[in-house]
Amino acid sequence: NMIKVAVVGGEGIGPEVTAQSRRVLDWFAAKRGAPMTLREAQYGLIPYLATGKVLPEDTAEAMDEADAILWGATGGPETKEVPAAARKAGSLLGLRSKYDLYANLRPIMASPALAASAPLKAEVLDGVDFVIIRELTSGIYFGEPRGIETLPDGQRRGFNTEQYTTNQIRRVARSAFELARTRRGKVCSVDKANVLETSVVWREEVIALHRDEFSDVELTHLYVDNAAMQIVREPRQFDVMVTGNIFGDILSDCAAMASGSLGMLPSASLGPVDRYGRRKALYEPVHGSAPDIAGRGIANPLGSILSVAMMLRLTLNRPDDADLLEKAVQTALASGARTADIAEAGTKKLSTVEMGDAVLSA
Ligand code: NAI
Ligand code: MG
Repeated sequence: NMIKVAVVGGEGIGPEVTAQSRRVLDWFAAKRGAPMTLREAQYGLIPYLATGKVLPEDTAEAMDEADAILWGATGGPETKEVPAAARKAGSLLGLRSKYDLYANLRPIMASPALAASAPLKAEVLDGVDFVIIRELTSGIYFGEPRGIETLPDGQRRGFNTEQYTTNQIRRVARSAFELARTRRGKVCSVDKANVLETSVVWREEVIALHRDEFSDVELTHLYVDNAAMQIVREPRQFDVMVTGNIFGDILSDCAAMASGSLGMLPSASLGPVDRYGRRKALYEPVHGSAPDIAGRGIANPLGSILSVAMMLRLTLNRPDDADLLEKAVQTALASGARTADIAEAGTKKLSTVEMGDAVLSA
């Protein structure tokens, strides 16, 4: 029952932060007997220069066969050195849709050790612990028709199509209800059903699925504008929030401010459950390749390390190990470990590797 993990650092700070989460994975395999085999593979400019592909065969194979992919980042100035067609052939967006990774989970946890420097007040942040599930493979970002046209009077008109089908709504709502059962048993569905037909269908389908299969879970609904306000006003009220692609994109960046820094945020993107009950998953920090700090060894590896905690919980089904790792991160922070992005002026700044050391020793 070995779990196959593909480790793909990618570009920019991706390989730097992923090297630290790789150490954490090795620790859980060696010290806690987590049953996994790791296969490391390259992505981006370096393999492109060697093979003509950003996603060479070996990497594609490692990702195809993996139960879980630990992804670093892609993008930055490296992008310009690869022709657009070669980029597109192996793009992350393409991989997300190839594996049908429709449920994007972003946990929002306030870190007590960082409360003093967080942009929200400590009393608002105290105890915040919720997950936003954003639908990732449909909605207005994918809907047809879309385009830019010139009208008879010479004006230009841009247009996109918001759309959701019953199945697309039900499968992501199911992910939310199932996750809520492992947490505090509450789901808040976010839509704009007072204005949008898509949202009318969204709300009706969520209600129907809840009635048929998940009536033990508490279900509430919010309009997206109110949800944005509630996240800032009283984020403690939420356990699991589920919403469509564009609303989730915006709300999760807004909620991210509760955690302190972009460098601290993990994510998981989950595909459909197969007939053996397994589901493909891609774990990655929320941040990108951070070209402004790449190559200097100062990036915060905690977003990537906390993505490993999500992998332990969701793919390896080892909640105790996930808790242990999350606690180690909090212990390291409480003892004053800070990379540059979360350090207060005049205090000691750890390198990426030193932050990895701090978590491992905790
Ligand atoms: P970014 O997340 O790379 O950086 C935004 C800011 O946050 C920068 O100032 C950066 O230094 C800082 N930052 C990010 N991660 C950090 C960390 N771990 N520690 C300390 N500071 C950190 O976003 P940006 O600049 O908009 O995008 C850069 C490139 O990354 C673009 O090409 C973009 O397309 C790509 N990108 C890739 C993603 C992925 O591979 N999933 C996700 C988001 C962006
Ligand atoms: Mg975004």
